[in-house]
Amino acid sequence: MKRYRRLTVPEISARKAAGRPVSMVTCYDHWTARILNETDVDCLLVGDSVAMVVHGYDSTVHADTEMMALHVSAVCRGAPDKLVIADMPFLAARKGLRVGMDAIQSLMQAGAQAIKIEGEQGVTELIAHSVESGVPIMGHLGLTPQSVHALGGMRVQGRADPAVHELLESARRLQEAGCFAIVLECVPSAVGKQVAETVEIPVIGIGAGADTDGQVLVLQDLLGADPSFKPRFVRRYLDLHGDMQAAVNRFHADVHGRGFPGVEESYA
Ligand code: KIV
Repeated sequence: MKRYRRLTVPEISARKAAGRPVSMVTCYDHWTARILNETDVDCLLVGDSVAMVVHGYDSTVHADTEMMALHVSAVCRGAPDKLVIADMPFLAARKGLRVGMDAIQSLMQAGAQAIKIEGEQGVTELIAHSVESGVPIMGHLGLTPQSVHALGGMRVQGRADPAVHELLESARRLQEAGCFAIVLECVPSAVGKQVAETVEIPVIGIGAGADTDGQVLVLQDLLGADPSFKPRFVRRYLDLHGDMQAAVNRFHADVHGRGFPGVEESYA
């Protein structure tokens, strides 16, 4: 079996200069983490999208530190050979240094090796303080889902100036504050390229085109878990929804046809 070694944060940062893209997928639970631990993917994100994908809320606003820490610890127990980045939940970075650092402490002690924080304005002090304290921070710009209500929905950002200019400035300031990478979500491809060219740290895109320094997708999206959800930027690599239903229907038919269990599945 192929052996994997957990990449370090400096190794992720160095990928940009080496011209090697970073791959990242979300992961929320232990059994999925065990599967992903034995894949080639570079790192795992315990995204606050867990609130929507796992808990069925209509936005990431409903994730809190307790929810995030529970999922982070489950993932870290299952994926000891992967770099795990945890999302800072809604408003935790905006209630002052003390609250922010307490949330970061909880997520790091749950097992994460780095923290992702959405936005730039109002959070750079916390980012700089965390980095100074030895906590690697990943930024998140473009469509920042925790601001979904202010943005008027999950829509493409940075379509024209001054938004593009502000995005480039924010990327620069996140780099200055000490971020080791930036997730860039839902911007036109040309803007994705511009942001990636503006900073020296890797820009990991989701719906940001092909010219960023890496790509991240929500695992359930790439596995095709929900046929009703197919944004333009998602590529489906599996029909999990169809394959899972077919498997459960086969089980059901076997039970009804008294075909399960067989002798080989029964104790003598
Ligand atoms: O929470 C999440 O899944 C994310 C990704 C969309 C990058 O932040």
